[in-house]
Amino acid sequence: MDPIDTLFAAARAVQARAHAPYSRFRVGAALLDEAGAVHAGCNVENAAYPVGTCAEAGAVAAMVAGGGRRIAAILVLGDGEALVTPCGACRQRLREFGAPDLPVHVAGPGGVRRTFTLEELLPASFGPDNLA
Ligand code: THU
Repeated sequence: MDPIDTLFAAARAVQARAHAPYSRFRVGAALLDEAGAVHAGCNVENAAYPVGTCAEAGAVAAMVAGGGRRIAAILVLGDGEALVTPCGACRQRLREFGAPDLPVHVAGPGGVRRTFTLEELLPASFGPDNLA
């Protein structure tokens, strides 16, 4: 299967499990690590709103917990008309584990709508190399 199709299927499956009773906006994210393993996450909201976490944060945590250390590609899936691009904090989360040319596929229910590089989403970023 095309890796993008694999990521889309994984994101769709996990989107259905999102805990989003407040926004009612379910998001799924799936990423491919350096070993070719897929890790997925969904948004998990909280009655104390700021404590909620994004789908991308869940996918990154699943990757790290599963032993992955580099993100080769990520797909984010949400409903609605607008592009569901990662929030600012999640762009920085991706920066920790992704190269500037990391493809960030932004999908809607029908498939990928647009692909950005991480550098496009987070230009002139601060990352691990700054501390090397
Ligand atoms: N959300 C994500 O999980 N990922 C994104 O890329 C955009 C927004 C979530 C956070 C919150 O639970 C809901 O979508 C509405 O903002």
